[in-house]
Amino acid sequence: MNAPIPHLAPAAAPAADRSFLQDVLGGLRAPRKQLPAKYFYDRRGSELFEAITRLPEYYPTRTELAILDRYGPEIAARLPPGSGLVEFGSGSTAKVRRLLPHLTDLAAYVPVDVSEEFLRSEAEELGRDFPRLRVEPVAADFTKPFALPEDLAGAPKAGFFPGSTLGNFEPEAAAGLLGSFARTLGHGATLIVGIDLVKDKAVLDAAYNDAAEVTAAFNLNLLTRINRELGADFDLDGFSHHAFFDEDLARIEMHLVSRRSQLVTVAGVPFHFASGETIHTENSYKYTVPGFRALARGAGWEHACVWTDPDGLFSVHALTASTIRRH
Ligand code: AVJ
Repeated sequence: MNAPIPHLAPAAAPAADRSFLQDVLGGLRAPRKQLPAKYFYDRRGSELFEAITRLPEYYPTRTELAILDRYGPEIAARLPPGSGLVEFGSGSTAKVRRLLPHLTDLAAYVPVDVSEEFLRSEAEELGRDFPRLRVEPVAADFTKPFALPEDLAGAPKAGFFPGSTLGNFEPEAAAGLLGSFARTLGHGATLIVGIDLVKDKAVLDAAYNDAAEVTAAFNLNLLTRINRELGADFDLDGFSHHAFFDEDLARIEMHLVSRRSQLVTVAGVPFHFASGETIHTENSYKYTVPGFRALARGAGWEHACVWTDPDGLFSVHALTASTIRRH
């Protein structure tokens, strides 16, 4: 037991692995241990998230898709003819497919994603399904500034940011991200953004504590990934999933709770966990419609229109870039 764990040599690791290691070590050194939610999505994590979207308790994905289906023509009408449509973190492109049939005169569709491989295969498939659509994928981290394809310079710009991904960011960071979208897309641009709404705590708690325990597996898979990619020895049976809606902060918090006092080693660095101590793995902020409007306005986006489902579970907003602010 306790054979020395080979040290990962950060200087020799690829840049992506290096920041993963730095983020994990930094998060576990914090007085309240935390890990960035963006690392959930390795291959297994992405599969588990897909499974979450089909759970009976997890209403956001199917509700947003229903809104896009029902109001697709109206939403599409918010985009000026000849727009370049930029999707931030395009993932599976399942959502934009609901809009594309109503967007027959796009200059181009620009999916932006960090995963180059995924981006290429999705772009190819979209090209087959929408043969007249010009698809210009950009491999980039949308949380950092990036350049749009040059041939879109003269086209009106529109952004698409579905899935309430914005809810993973602290409100201040969410405003920062909206501001950077405004700078990327430019004055007068349109942004279509999907935002999960504040609702009854019981409904929210159930959506992140499904009976089939898929969300628990999704949360715990982060430790499996850290074990595999960073040479760590987390005991998966030593941690349990805990998620709850904090009504004061209007956010779901997800944690991994240590079931006992234990020592875990990550890339040769030991970390002690007290019994009951948690790693905070995700925040998922929920907004009211006026609350989100205020956040967007502060980031330079004027509210144009909002669409919701009959139960008021989820919202899709159209915003217009009114003022471009520097950082
Ligand atoms: C992909 C960030 C929108 O917060 O609901 C689902 C991720 N986490 N179940 C969300 C998630 C746990 C999801 N987002």
